[in-house]
Amino acid sequence: MILRDAVRVLIDNWDGGHTVPSRRLYPHQWSWDSAFIAIGNAHLSPRRARTELLSLFGAQWSDGRVPHIVFNPAVPEGAYFPGPEFWQARSPSGAATSGIVQPPVHALAAWRVHQAEPDLAFLRRIYPKLVAQQEFLRTARRSPEGLISIVHPWESGMDNSPAWDRPLSAVETDATGYRRRDLTHVSAEERPTDRDYDRYTALATAYRDSGYREPGAFHVEDPLFNAAYGAAELALADIAAACGLDPEPHRAEAAAITAAMVEHLYDDGIFQSRDLRTGYLIRSSSAAGLVPLILPGLPREIAHALIGTGLDHFGLKDGVLPSFAPTAPEFDPVRYWRGPSWINLTWLVWQGLKDRRSDLAASLADNMINAVVRSGFREYFDPVTLRGHGSRDFSWSAALILDVVA
Ligand code: DGY
Repeated sequence: MILRDAVRVLIDNWDGGHTVPSRRLYPHQWSWDSAFIAIGNAHLSPRRARTELLSLFGAQWSDGRVPHIVFNPAVPEGAYFPGPEFWQARSPSGAATSGIVQPPVHALAAWRVHQAEPDLAFLRRIYPKLVAQQEFLRTARRSPEGLISIVHPWESGMDNSPAWDRPLSAVETDATGYRRRDLTHVSAEERPTDRDYDRYTALATAYRDSGYREPGAFHVEDPLFNAAYGAAELALADIAAACGLDPEPHRAEAAAITAAMVEHLYDDGIFQSRDLRTGYLIRSSSAAGLVPLILPGLPREIAHALIGTGLDHFGLKDGVLPSFAPTAPEFDPVRYWRGPSWINLTWLVWQGLKDRRSDLAASLADNMINAVVRSGFREYFDPVTLRGHGSRDFSWSAALILDVVA
């Protein structure tokens, strides 16, 4: 039954060359959504999964960046804020896009799609694009510590995480001249606040006005983003080997980023973000700090400590993964990335636990399934009651459930 419903969601949200995350709230193509959707579609239609990734990379910029949104010109202007008129950016292919990025989970997706249905022509076509995506991050976003930085909370994927409260408090705003569209579809207590939106808008405006080059008031190294970058290098090593190319540089890069993360972001049982403006760690209880479990090269004792933190503070023993620890004062079970469980975040940690603690991985998988049985393919879930929040018929919730049960 849930499988049939998952297939229905993915079919209903298919737009001919890509899948929308959800019909009303997110009516265009989103970068990391497309990667997770491809991972699910690999089980349903590898061809559609390949098309999904290739259409996203069709809008890659000449500097290698993969924009976080590719706008569909058929969607009426004003359906989403900030839309193409705000970003004022076009890819060489002519597509209107945003100018920021999202966690690079695409190489992993491409490799999964190939594993589901081997297709060397696809791998050879996408490999240089994936390499250019990493190259952009490595050149435009590398810090002296050897980590990759992000310049906007939207780049973290976990937009209003309490981890960003402090760095965002330094952002000056001019809250005029825009109208939020998200609140037409989802109730205000489940979304970021107006104050957050003022800052998101101010940061994106400043970055746009620098020609999408200069980091502004928000400049941080995030453990989820860096872990995704490292996992991408490992997937690229597999892809390179399959294409008859040398996998070693990718393995070396994955080892280097893992070591830099351990040296600079690990602190007392969890990975933290670091604020490049101050040089200090941003200590918070964000589940982003557990995502480095996806890196197989993580030292054993650190993986062990992360699992301990997951058990003590995140409720991992009950099979849930809230996006922010319920033991922390900022925890909010319904407000977007301030506490609700998300299927993609849970899926990443599930990947990281499979070879380390298969018992915990199995209960995370059970709980993802329980959440959608209880509440449908919602965007996020109250981690205690499993009540659904945010949009309905959310694509990556459906896609990743297909992968979990496969
Ligand atoms: C949104 O619109 O809430 C997205 O997360 C930003 O890309």
